[in-house]
Parts: sequence; C-alpha cells; structure tokens
Amino acid sequence: MKDLLYVLCFLGGFLFLQGTEVLGVEHTEKKNPAPVQIHEVSFTKERKGKALYLHYCAVCHGPTGGGDGLNAYNLDPKPRNFTDVSIMSKRSDEDLYRVITQGGAATGKSSLMPPWGRVLKEKEVREIISYLRAFK
Ligand code: HEC
Repeated sequence: MKDLLYVLCFLGGFLFLQGTEVLGVEHTEKKNPAPVQIHEVSFTKERKGKALYLHYCAVCHGPTGGGDGLNAYNLDPKPRNFTDVSIMSKRSDEDLYRVITQGGAATGKSSLMPPWGRVLKEKEVREIISYLRAFK
C-alpha cells in the first residue's frame, strides 16, 4: 500500500512536470546561443576604437575616414583617406602603429600628422587601428 502511494506521487509529479511542458510555460533555454567569443572581442575593440577615433582623429581624417575632416582643407599634404584600400592594404598594423604613436615627422611623413604616443595608451592605439581597418 505504501509502495503504491510512492508510485502515485511519482506519477503525479511526473504528469505535473509534463503538463507545464505541454503548456509551454517558460522555456528558459535560449534559441540562439551566444556568438563566437573571438568575434565579440574584436567587435568591442572596434567600437572603442571608433569613440577614440571620433574624438582625436576625425577632425582631420574625417568622421567616415575619407581624409576630409573639418581641418583637412587647411592641410597639405591632405590627411590619409582611410577608405583608400589601394594604400591601406599595403600598410601593416605595425606601420600604422608607428605613424600614430611617433607622428609624421619621425616616420618620413608630414609633420602635420601629430604624434599620439603620449596621449594614447598602446591598447587605445590598437583599438583605433582595428577601427581604421573597418573603413571601406
Ligand atoms: C591635425 C590633423 C591630424 C590629426 C588630428 C590626425 N592626423 Fe593622421 N595624418 C594627418 C596628415 C596630414 C597625414 C598625412 C601625412 C603624409 O601623408 O605625409 C596623416 C597621416 C596619418 C597616417 C599615415 C597613413 C599612411 O599613409 O601610412 C595614419 C595611420 C594616421 N594619420 C592616423 C591618425 C590617427 C589614428 C589619428 C588620431 C589618433 C590621427 N591620424 C590624427 C593629419 C592628422
């Protein structure tokens, strides 16, 4: 008799759980799992780079990287157009890092490109570079 009670309780519990399942109550399981981690990391890096770029670089290089910032008309040579793939594809990340941190004068380019090595941390320069790579 006692055993039968146990069985009934078990069955009751089982049916109860099945019931909630059938009614579709609260499916907590996510349909889309989180995207691959590597993508998320580089995406955040690029986004941080964008904020820094707009703050420090856009005035010359332009808000969309076209080398046409507010200050560009004033400069000769013109600031680099980052959307120019024929040039940007020839620059390694290290080339860009050197010009950005040391400035034009120290790297055989125009002194109109200021050095940012004392203003920006290495991590920030890398974030900006990953944003420059996103211009098309
Ligand atoms: C005062 C204007 C000015 C500002 C601000 C400025 N740049 Fe420049 N930048 C220039 C000019 C002008 C050149 C072109 C130098 C040349 O061609 O000799 C240049 C060139 C460059 C180059 C070299 C591209 C190549 O051909 O190799 C890079 C990279 C660059 N800038 C990145 C940046 C970044 C990143 C920032 C913001 C942190 C920035 N610049 C802010 C004026 C500016």
